Amino acid sequence: MLLALVAALAALAVPGLAGSPVPEQFTPVDMLTAPRPHAALAAPGGKYALNVVDQWDEETDVTTRTLYLLHPHDRKAHPEPLFSGRTSEAAEVLWLSNQTVAYLNGSSLYHFSVAPESSKRVIHLLDFPESIEPSAIQYDAESRTLAFSAAVWTENGDFGLTAAGDQAYADRGDTGQVYDDLFVRHWDTWRIPGRVYTIGTTVLRQRADGLFDSAHVFTNILEGTGLYSQADAIGADQFSVSPTHIAFALKPPHLQVATHTRLEVYLQPLDQPGSRPIQLTPGSQGAISGVQFSPDGKKIAWLEMAQDGYESDRRVVVVHTLSGGKLGQSVRWTQDWDRSPSDITWSLNSESLYVLAEYNGRVRPYHLSTPGRLPTPIAFRGSTLAIAPIDDQDSLFLLSISSLTSPIEVYLLDLDEGDVRGDPDKFPPEAVHRLTDYSGPHINGRLDPFHGEELWFTGVDDRKVMAWVIKPRGWTEEDAAKSYPLAFFIHGGPQGAWDDQWSTRWNLALYASAGYFVVAVNPTGSTGYGQEFTDRIAGHWGDRPYQDLVAGYFAALDKYPEIDPNRTTALGASYGGYMINWINGHNVFGFKALVYHDGILSTTDTYYSTEEVWFPNHDFEGTLIENRANYEKWSPLNHVAEWATPQLVIQGGQDFRLAESQAIGTFTALQLQGVPSRFLYFHDENHWVLKPKNSRRWHHEVLRWLDEWVGAGKRHGIEAEAEVEVEAEAIDIDSLNPGLFYDDFSDLVDGVGAFVEDVTANVIEEIEEMVSIVL
Ligand SMILES: *[C@@H]1O[C@H](CO)[C@@H](O)[C@H](O)[C@H]1NC(C)=O
Ligand SMILES: *[C@@H]1O[C@H](CO)[C@@H](O)[C@H](O)[C@H]1NC(C)=O
Ligand SMILES: *[C@@H]1O[C@H](CO)[C@@H](O)[C@H](O)[C@H]1NC(C)=O
Repeated sequence: MLLALVAALAALAVPGLAGSPVPEQFTPVDMLTAPRPHAALAAPGGKYALNVVDQWDEETDVTTRTLYLLHPHDRKAHPEPLFSGRTSEAAEVLWLSNQTVAYLNGSSLYHFSVAPESSKRVIHLLDFPESIEPSAIQYDAESRTLAFSAAVWTENGDFGLTAAGDQAYADRGDTGQVYDDLFVRHWDTWRIPGRVYTIGTTVLRQRADGLFDSAHVFTNILEGTGLYSQADAIGADQFSVSPTHIAFALKPPHLQVATHTRLEVYLQPLDQPGSRPIQLTPGSQGAISGVQFSPDGKKIAWLEMAQDGYESDRRVVVVHTLSGGKLGQSVRWTQDWDRSPSDITWSLNSESLYVLAEYNGRVRPYHLSTPGRLPTPIAFRGSTLAIAPIDDQDSLFLLSISSLTSPIEVYLLDLDEGDVRGDPDKFPPEAVHRLTDYSGPHINGRLDPFHGEELWFTGVDDRKVMAWVIKPRGWTEEDAAKSYPLAFFIHGGPQGAWDDQWSTRWNLALYASAGYFVVAVNPTGSTGYGQEFTDRIAGHWGDRPYQDLVAGYFAALDKYPEIDPNRTTALGASYGGYMINWINGHNVFGFKALVYHDGILSTTDTYYSTEEVWFPNHDFEGTLIENRANYEKWSPLNHVAEWATPQLVIQGGQDFRLAESQAIGTFTALQLQGVPSRFLYFHDENHWVLKPKNSRRWHHEVLRWLDEWVGAGKRHGIEAEAEVEVEAEAIDIDSLNPGLFYDDFSDLVDGVGAFVEDVTANVIEEIEEMVSIVL
């Protein structure tokens, strides 16, 4: 009885209840306990696909991994559960043939057949040598070669000696670690000097019943070449196996690892491990990713950045055609396309390519038919995490799609459907068929009202800038003005973006469901709006993106009078955390509270403690010695005297990208000046909070902080103080920030009146652009 009453009162507190029913809140625990499907993995030929789905149980604190078999050609079929275990029992899953699946359980590989007549019983296949940490396992059926990344000691690259080397290191008698070069640690791991990562191979034997045996002979194919990866395992998109060769992308040994992003693509015959590899790249480019042999083994595709030292340069698709064992020819397929593709997938006939690319806040799949021709987008909803062609005619595809309101689900796209090919208004068809519904029952409609809306406005230098907006739970058309607090999100990178895609670290719909109006701007530096927009942040960390954030903030207040300008708050991690500290020194927004996660206090201190030194070298246009002025110009440390906004400070102790001293310094500066603040520290988390229980605490503290400063109940005397309205036009930035350093701030002040763009006009423009690409 009492419970029912409490629930009724809580419901009454939600505005707009009278009209439509308000869905129950989708809480952080609901998000953490929701199924987490991975992208679907299509079998060779596409008859079957696999789905890995993880789910955390709050009570036992165990994450269970379930493997499902999909039958993509049967639209009525439900995913068939195969087995469940701990995540470490199926750490990697791969297809060995069109109907045989292998998975890594600890350091052993198990396999089973999914053929209808088989028992689907799992059978042990091989044990990797102890301690080598196999990962990125892939298989070429014709040569029966299983290739993988693994750890060895440089003095003798035999896989059999890794465990002994590890033991000798552990027994060295003290705990000293001695380094002669950089990358002493990377991301969240200290490098062990002398221990590196290489690529290994082993050949499987196929039995009469279609299953496999192993002779347990493992070859380090880079032994004697001088090539290896110093601090990290070699990623799955850094190497690929064909029936005759292995192609791999590694940093050439003469480059300093912390200041260069350049990788070279090398080619080695499978039957000559340790031979001198042929270098396929010219040695003047930047980073390489997405190395992928065509199914017929005659071509290799990869993604190439032009500039060494710039990790967010535009990726261009390069296809190299092999010429026997000699250097063949490389052709650049997307030289004139102003997008940065990722995730190369070959068509089954080896003729064309599929890639993913960010486009205006979404990740879309594109088809590349021929070199030079503009790619065709082939699906528009949400964000695609993987595309797999599943027929020879390039008309059937498996898409793994997520959105701001849904975790990944798998869809079938049939391009022949409805006979709309050639009709740009109808092609591609929006009729994708949902094949899975892992999370629907768990979410149970609670996120239905929270789809993202695009808000376009004019930012600095007349650039069109986009924000995602999500209206809060209980919002209705008739709401009284200034009813809702605002949560304003600033993404990291800074070369990144808020996309229409699911996240368990920054789940925007969660905040809308908790009652906040959500605005997430993609300011200068963001990806998905053309390379120039991304590049323009270099040398401008504190002005251009900041000006866009200011413009987006007031555009939102103007468009949505339901937002209470006196109850606004901003949150950001990494570069977003840097920006939170910067905003605390320049709070023209009038934010009432801030949330900082793993950010920057001092750009100069960070320069010498971060690991990827190429990053500040690029973004601040020179080293700290060469261009100290730019670092000082944008250092939040130089403005701590102006800090007055309450701030929550959060930090992971294993974050070596932006080390904990930045957060401790931030908290110290707040506390010494009497600015209300709180420090949340996780000794066992890196740049991201990944452990579900820690994430639960993280969300609890963040929502508690927002509630304390701007939440429900903080809506004092709105009517009485109606004159205290913040008007975009009334902001005089110079008087708010005497002595502010902007050279070109006039752009912003002049532009304030024109913040709100005609969104309809923008949408029409986008559609026209889209149609012209399709044509
Ligand atoms: C698998 O491939 C073999 C030939 O390699 C073929 O005979 C068989 O029909 C294929 N099976 C399926 C299920 O695709
Ligand atoms: C993983 O291997 C362990 C033995 O090391 C075994 O008990 C367990 O059943 C295996 N799990 C799966 C899913 O193969
Ligand atoms: C705005 O916030 C201040 C505290 O920061 C409070 O004193 C004032 O009453 C608020 N005004 C309105 C209109 O809510």
